[in-house]
Amino acid sequence: GLPSHVYLKEVGPRDGLQNESQWISTDDKVAWINMLSETGFREIEYSSFVHPKMIPALKDAREVGRRIRRKEGVTYSALVPNMKGLEHALEAGIDGASVFMSASETHNLKNINKSIDETYPVLSEVIQEAKHAGKEVTGYVSTVFDCPYEGRIAVEDVLRVCDQLIASGVDYLSLGDTIGTAVPSQVEALLEGLASYFSKDKLILHFHDTRGMAIANIMTSLHMGITRFDSTVGGLGGCPYAPGAAGNVATNDVLYLLNGLGIETGISEKRIQEASIYIQNKLGTTLPSRSVAYLKNA
Ligand code: HMG
Ligand code: MG
Repeated sequence: GLPSHVYLKEVGPRDGLQNESQWISTDDKVAWINMLSETGFREIEYSSFVHPKMIPALKDAREVGRRIRRKEGVTYSALVPNMKGLEHALEAGIDGASVFMSASETHNLKNINKSIDETYPVLSEVIQEAKHAGKEVTGYVSTVFDCPYEGRIAVEDVLRVCDQLIASGVDYLSLGDTIGTAVPSQVEALLEGLASYFSKDKLILHFHDTRGMAIANIMTSLHMGITRFDSTVGGLGGCPYAPGAAGNVATNDVLYLLNGLGIETGISEKRIQEASIYIQNKLGTTLPSRSVAYLKNA
């Protein structure tokens, strides 16, 4: 059967904005995150403490972290690649740290400038220190289905990275369909492959929607007992170091699905719509979510 409740993490302020060539001012980011705080999300990934030259759109992470209004009951997390990033994140204020690496050697190298084996000790120290500071830690694993450089990734390669991250102490694993190419049979094969090693409560699915398969993949994940997903308002986003990747699955579309299925999220569709229109106007673009366009004209 399907779960009665699903936990959605809004990653728009991080994954949604990281690929934007247009500068969104710190004031506008803060105002938007404050709006997102009132929608009912229990977790918001608010920025990224990576090298500012790699992700210029989020170079104001520290200021954003210091200025957002923190709502009780909401976990504010951020992407952290190394100890320097963790130091900045702790100064700015985080409840959760998200470390990240790839199942694909080539994507890992392009994205964080290290081999997979060189990455483990770096992340292990970050995870330990973040846990020591009382923070919840999520380990993102990118390219769990397909890699833009290496093609299809074997389940064993994903399993190996997940295993190391869990051994290093992450609380959750977020499995990334980085380039949004997976179809439900791939999701089924991966989740079956991981099922005997990791509890489903520890798994988050992170779909990009390049080929329009994300909702189908979420449906498959729900049937397989997954209750945690990442999404972005309006379907903003993409990874600049993953050519061809489109935005994340839209929070609006996931909510439409979950509400229709009678699955609770605690999130207000109306407020998500308002937050979508806000960022859409700031960017001066049309966001990919069908729901935004549909409701705007309704
Ligand atoms: P590096 O160049 O190997 O780092 O970058 P380094 O340790 O050799 O240091 C080089 C310089 O960078 C030094 O400065 C450091 O201080 C500085 P210098 O002494 O030369 O003046 N530096 C930093 N500055 C600020 N903040 C930091 C930091 N670290 C070092 N944290 C690094 C390695 C990981 C930092 C770099 O490659 C990087 O920032 N990569 C981030 C790439 C990225 O953000 N990608 C997108 C996010 S991942 C994603 O989108 C996928 C996901 O959504 C899931 C999915 O969809 O699959 C999560
Ligand atoms: Mg992503």
